Amino acid sequence: MTGLDVFLTMTEDTEATRYCHSRSSSPSSWVNKLARMAKNEDLGEKEELIKNESENADTHSLSSSVRQHVVDGHLRYHAYHAGKYAFPNDENEQLRDDLKHNLTIQLCGSNYFYAPVRKLLERGANVLDLGKHGNGQVVHRKGPVADSFPETRFHGMDLSPIQPNWVPENTDFVVDDIEHEGGWTYPLNTFDYIHVRHTIHSIKNRPQMWERIFNHLKPGGYVEVQEFQYVAACDDDSCDGPYALRDFLNYLQAGLEALGSQLNSIQHAEDELLAAGFEDLRYQDLKSPIGPWPKRPQLRECGSILRDVIMWGLIGLARRPFRDGLGWTSVQIEMFLIEVRKDLAREVDGVPVFHSYFFFRSIYGRKPSGGNTFPKDQIGK
Ligand SMILES: C[S@@+](CC[C@H](N)C(=O)[O-])C[C@H]1O[C@@H](n2cnc3c(N)ncnc32)[C@H](O)[C@@H]1O
Repeated sequence: MTGLDVFLTMTEDTEATRYCHSRSSSPSSWVNKLARMAKNEDLGEKEELIKNESENADTHSLSSSVRQHVVDGHLRYHAYHAGKYAFPNDENEQLRDDLKHNLTIQLCGSNYFYAPVRKLLERGANVLDLGKHGNGQVVHRKGPVADSFPETRFHGMDLSPIQPNWVPENTDFVVDDIEHEGGWTYPLNTFDYIHVRHTIHSIKNRPQMWERIFNHLKPGGYVEVQEFQYVAACDDDSCDGPYALRDFLNYLQAGLEALGSQLNSIQHAEDELLAAGFEDLRYQDLKSPIGPWPKRPQLRECGSILRDVIMWGLIGLARRPFRDGLGWTSVQIEMFLIEVRKDLAREVDGVPVFHSYFFFRSIYGRKPSGGNTFPKDQIGK
């Protein structure tokens, strides 16, 4: 495939499109082109589809709806199952995800996962990363995970076709909906480990997702979920008065709920995983400061990053939940965000006034060795 950096095949039974990246690939012009278009063009408030039109004849086969994006008031969104995910997928969002990735790894003491799968991955296993956006994940472009386990095959699934071009050879991606009504294209009983990070806040039917994960894991395989609890927790009295970030999170929760998902889904994960049949659940809660207020330098650094991640993401986080979910106007959103920015940046002598933090929870569980591998509704049929 001369000069073809992305290889596509359409599956027949679902709309899912699989595309593989190879080490020998060159940076693709269309990705850059889309980014330039999203950044520079004044497309107004109206939604517009950006078509994937490459100058490279070899990449004309990419012209499919899954490879397009929707631009909505200067923010770019996925077009495949459009509207499913409430947040953008543009360069700014990818940068924020990179930052969030670095923050998460730092917070977790360089652990990409807590499930006891290291030996398995060393020997060679099958891993699925759900919500594999951009660069920073278990299947990580620069990170050590896929490179560190050359015998293991890493698969990523996401609504957005924005994965990097340069990835380890043992990884591949599918543009698909975790909640696709037709199920997943992977066979049942396939994976040794399934990882879901910073994604369940956007899943509308979590019990169905846990069931899919259960059914696609091999008996004895592990699921691991990692997510922030998006509540501005505080251990002293610094947040006792008005705090616009707290209000922002409450509105975000209400807006997402109106769109069909729950911002703070992680608080239900333990019960839901048990109900789905997983056993030997273990979890770990970490405090992730918002702003550089802690004394410990490592946590101060984490706080700085998280504050940037929130600050840079405000408009993208608010746009659809506040406008489409709660009916706010653009002006109302912008006016409110000014207050949120002010409180995020409020400092005395260089130290943030509000000593708030998010809980970050990692939870993993095992599918029983004798675990049923077929959907519950097919048992006995
Ligand atoms: C905040 S990003 C997290 C990315 C990555 N897991 C990480 O930890 O850095 C959430 C990702 O989940 C994807 N996502 C959300 N809902 C999805 C769905 N129903 N099917 C597939 N991907 C989905 C979004 O497209 C987005 O890329």
